[in-house]
Amino acid sequence: MREYIFILGREPELSFLEIISYFKAQGVTYKVVEYKDEVAIFLLREFDSDILIKRLGGTVKIAEVFMDYKYKGEENRLNWGISVYKGQGKELRNYLTKEFKKENVKAMFRKAREKFFTPSEILAKHLLEFVVYGKYWAKTIAIFEPKWYKERDETRPKQMLLHQVSLRLARILINLSQARANLLDPYCGVGTILQEGLISNLDVVGVDIDEESVKASKKNLEWLKNKYNLKNKFKVIKGDAKGLTRYFKRNSIQGVATEPYLGPYHKKLPTREKVSGEVKNLERLYYGFLVQLRQILRKNGKVAIVFPRLKFHRGSKNLDVKEILKNSGFKVSNIDERVKLPIVSEGKFLDRLIYVLE
Ligand SMILES: C[S@@+](CC[C@H](N)C(=O)[O-])C[C@H]1O[C@@H](n2cnc3c(N)ncnc32)[C@H](O)[C@@H]1O
Repeated sequence: MREYIFILGREPELSFLEIISYFKAQGVTYKVVEYKDEVAIFLLREFDSDILIKRLGGTVKIAEVFMDYKYKGEENRLNWGISVYKGQGKELRNYLTKEFKKENVKAMFRKAREKFFTPSEILAKHLLEFVVYGKYWAKTIAIFEPKWYKERDETRPKQMLLHQVSLRLARILINLSQARANLLDPYCGVGTILQEGLISNLDVVGVDIDEESVKASKKNLEWLKNKYNLKNKFKVIKGDAKGLTRYFKRNSIQGVATEPYLGPYHKKLPTREKVSGEVKNLERLYYGFLVQLRQILRKNGKVAIVFPRLKFHRGSKNLDVKEILKNSGFKVSNIDERVKLPIVSEGKFLDRLIYVLE
């Protein structure tokens, strides 16, 4: 086994939990060597880093830790640089300069504008990147490429901005659900989560109450299936998430990833009174849906779900999550003791509280 440094995205806790969930679902043997802020070091058996970084929505880079480095590439001219996440880069720079010289490689050192290079800079400069994290030296073996998402996001046939989550969050939720066979999104909107599930070899089913969203989902999924020649199945049903037992058999669903309806759209912050009313409505919706979900979800199935915290002028209001979970037969899943759920992703009009339930 070897040590690998994972550089985590904007919400490091979420990214960390995503990696752990993914490893658990895939039966990967791992050990967490260190985890702090945006850096996690794992002990892992050899793996395909190109596949892994595409599967994870929240990891920016993966770098392999080394004790000594030998350049094994074929080019005798290259650009290289060092990203320093903790400590100093000088010692590694001296060491590598000597190594490149020994191998007769014309290696041009590029300095990072900040302390570290972004994936776009690495791609633009065709950079061979190294990472310093305290005593660890590592070589970057995979980076997140924004163009993978752009292609699936911007060129799909249907977009409805209020009815879709970001592809990145979609991937994270799917991984948090640890789904291995089938995945349900009971508020599927234009099908972003379903789409990312399908591309990860899951059979996916979606439900949405809105006819237009159902049509959009179907169109997007058909398009994706053809474009990437995917073999898995999808199904989209027009229906109410509070009536799931009408559409699905008992224990038929293995994993759920969803960003449900989060309340009405506002142009400016509403009043406290208005938010109180909206929270009441949402509590009814979330409770009604989770009670039904309990019956169709397998015993060991997990639900990765967003609860909204609605903002008003000078404050915010949560749903009574504790009560909803108690009455619907769910509890918060303890995936890793280092991360406490929910994880909060802050927004302008509402914060997203991300839970994993079981
Ligand atoms: C935030 S969007 C979902 C985004 C979606 N998960 C995705 O992957 O892009 C919320 C969706 O919930 C749907 N919705 C609202 N109330 C519903 C209900 N009772 N049952 C099912 N869908 C509902 C809306 O039509 C809307 O498309």
